[in-house]
Amino acid sequence: MVYESQHPLVKHKLTLLRKQSTEPKKFRELVRELAMLLCYEATADLGVRGIEVETPMGRASGHELADKIGLIPVLRAGLGMVNGIWEMMPGAEVWHIGLYRDERTLKPVSYYNKLPTAPTVQVCLVLDPMLATGGSASATIDILKNWGATRIKFVGLLAAPEGIAALQKAHPDVPIYIAKIDERLNDIGFIVPGLGDAGDRQFGTG
Ligand code: PRP
Repeated sequence: MVYESQHPLVKHKLTLLRKQSTEPKKFRELVRELAMLLCYEATADLGVRGIEVETPMGRASGHELADKIGLIPVLRAGLGMVNGIWEMMPGAEVWHIGLYRDERTLKPVSYYNKLPTAPTVQVCLVLDPMLATGGSASATIDILKNWGATRIKFVGLLAAPEGIAALQKAHPDVPIYIAKIDERLNDIGFIVPGLGDAGDRQFGTG
């Protein structure tokens, strides 16, 4: 399942994110805000269980989230997507996965993973702004499945059609929530028209 957001706020903020003149501070704010909006859409089908609470006026029936949520930012660029989402779901656990893309082969190289031996969450949200070839997302989801995760969603900002196809082929059970599917990948594996390098633009390292 691929869900491309149609929300006007997402379209507006994504356009600002793309602009070359958007400086790192503003870029980080936009990544945070877009992640929250996408997360709202990506969590619409989470399970809840009924609970009762005391209001100042009496008893009310309500709900609480049924599942423990894990946020899995892919270092580095996924880090900027964590905090806004975490504010909305403060009980979520955050597990970092470090991958970088080899510039020559475009294959993901794993450099950080401190997941505990057994899964501690029921729903994993993989956070990475960019889905280019799809190699990093597929490798992250391989790691999570080997860990024992069963319900995984990918939440990103921009995707190339090639990355969507590769991720769907590798993990057809993982829904993809994305702000926009762009035109294509260029010959060095960047999304076009894209926004450049999401890691460099957030961290001021470009
Ligand atoms: C970027 C991006 C994704 C990956 C996408 O990270 O944040 O993780 O590339 O490309 P793929 O779909 O072709 O695998 P990068 O390797 O530049 O590392 P960084 O986040 O540390 O800058």
